[in-house]
Amino acid sequence: MKGIILAGGKGTRLHPLTIVTSKQLLPVYDKPMVYYPLSMLMLAGIREVLVISTPEDLPSFRRLLRDGSQWGMKFSYAEQDQPRGLADAFRVGKDFVGSDPVCLILGDNIFFGHGLPAVLRSMAARVSNGGGAAIFAYPVQDPWRYGVIEFDSEGKALSLEEKPANPRSNYAVPGMYFYDNQVIQIAAELKPSPRGELEITDVNLTYMRLGKLFVQELGRGVAWLDAGTHESLLQAAAFIQTVEERQGMMISSPEEIAFRMGFIDREQLRRLLDELGNSTYRSRLETLLK
Ligand code: DAU
Repeated sequence: MKGIILAGGKGTRLHPLTIVTSKQLLPVYDKPMVYYPLSMLMLAGIREVLVISTPEDLPSFRRLLRDGSQWGMKFSYAEQDQPRGLADAFRVGKDFVGSDPVCLILGDNIFFGHGLPAVLRSMAARVSNGGGAAIFAYPVQDPWRYGVIEFDSEGKALSLEEKPANPRSNYAVPGMYFYDNQVIQIAAELKPSPRGELEITDVNLTYMRLGKLFVQELGRGVAWLDAGTHESLLQAAAFIQTVEERQGMMISSPEEIAFRMGFIDREQLRRLLDELGNSTYRSRLETLLK
């Protein structure tokens, strides 16, 4: 399975922070925001990732993430010149995806929780082996801000709406989606919504109508954080800081995950530490080596 991180958009809700920097490169406590979604793909066992961003911001992503080999990964980069919608990722990424299944994650979605790595691997395996699509459902207080899903006890999707005025459930669809290769064709045939975007919800509705949309509930043991406003960005940072300081362990460090997943060995990890200056990020990684 391949991975796509969609990290474009204008980030206007975070101005002036995002005038010269991409939102997805802003710090969330001790690391750039994009490390969090990237870590989710790595935990799902995905090694080949396409990063999509604006022509202005793409060079910064390249500088930060490089070709990925330092983490045992392979990164490619592609421009999205206009924010045409989330499903545009499969048009921009068509050649990269080729004939493989693919997982799309939004560059501003942060997940953390017990048991999540196993859930991610099972979602990837389900779609890779059995086809169809698999998405998450997460209970929220303000479902009208998201894609809203109803589903049965077997995980079969029953209804799905994008930002409905009158939500039929309090389950939002987080920005991480697993698809078989049919998604390329579905996205190619998609028409823009009334707000002028190629909606990921319309992709998911196509799978739902085919009876091929599996829904995995994420319970209260998992945090799904949104870092799209000044308030939520600060809250996300405080959350990460609280857990990392208490445990002395890191949340969503690509170096650590690469090491634990066996993508790099001890010697490669040691070399990475030398690039990390005297930061606490480095000292937390050093404890891994001990
Ligand atoms: O976060 C989950 C939600 O993401 C889902 O529940 C919704 O169904 C889905 O439509 C989406 O809603 P948002 O309103 O959060 O989408 P937004 O337009 O803010 O885009 C999400 C991120 O993707 C944002 O950081 C910018 C980036 N983006 C967006 C568009 C439209 C791009 O890189 N390219 C784009 O064309």
